[in-house]
Amino acid sequence: MTQSQPIALVSGATRGIGRAIAQDLAQKGVKVLLGARNLQAGQKVAVEISTSEIQVEAVELDTTHQNTIDNLSALIAEKYGRLDILVNNAGISLDFYPDLSVREKLSRTLETNVIGTAALTDAMIPLLEKSQHGRIVNVSSVLASFTSREQADWIYKDVAMPTYQASKAALNSLTLSYAKLLEPRKIKVNAICPGLTATDATNHYGERTPEQAAQVAVKYALLDDSGPTGTFVNDDGILRW
Ligand SMILES: NC(=O)c1ccc[n+]([C@@H]2O[C@H](COP(=O)([O-])OP(=O)(O)OC[C@H]3O[C@@H](n4cnc5c(N)ncnc54)[C@H](OP(=O)(O)O)[C@@H]3O)[C@@H](O)[C@H]2O)c1
Repeated sequence: MTQSQPIALVSGATRGIGRAIAQDLAQKGVKVLLGARNLQAGQKVAVEISTSEIQVEAVELDTTHQNTIDNLSALIAEKYGRLDILVNNAGISLDFYPDLSVREKLSRTLETNVIGTAALTDAMIPLLEKSQHGRIVNVSSVLASFTSREQADWIYKDVAMPTYQASKAALNSLTLSYAKLLEPRKIKVNAICPGLTATDATNHYGERTPEQAAQVAVKYALLDDSGPTGTFVNDDGILRW
């Protein structure tokens, strides 16, 4: 790979939207580190989505296991010396698991969607600082928009996923805080909503493909230096917090 080639890390990239983000970035010439809880599964996907120019590299990453985060930041520092793009995609939703208590649902969801994301972000900041164009994309959901939830005619007004919505609202808050903290270091931090997408997480509901959902994440991963920070967006533009 060349010095000028951007390097991206995508968490939760073994399937669904994360896989599509990794593939789209690779097709656009980005060196992709494909985060996988199961390294073997990740290696299989990496082979499938590598291009003739870009060798996608699977890396072990479970955002709830700090040792995998620490090992990965050491690996990236040693091998590449910097990171240009972090896509915080890994996420779970347990609201429709009736056998779990609310304590279990909320603690597991927050651990992955919020604490794991913050821990990964913190570990990658020193590497993103080495980039001239650091970008962080947090994969959130419009279901967490307080403004939309207040509107009587909102398309998702009847949706109630307490633990998932709370986790993505916390992720949105992290987005604003990190955008503020990292602005002086020229790292842009934005939250995106990929839209309701047919993946394992939604039991493949609906028509929207992971490839379509990935586009807004990739757009914000590849923002140029005049692009915004601290925003919440989807395909159609700005979303209200
Ligand atoms: N699908 C939608 O309609 C929709 C809408 C709005 C937002 N989103 C968000 O988009 C993101 C991707 O969703 P998806 O629909 O593609 O979900 P998915 O098909 O269930 O895939 C989730 C991915 O996250 C990984 N993952 C889960 N826990 C992890 C952890 N602790 N550490 C690292 N990786 C972990 C999974 O890895 P394994 O393969 O190892 O399980 C998998 O690769 C999530 O943040 C989700 O909340 C989705």
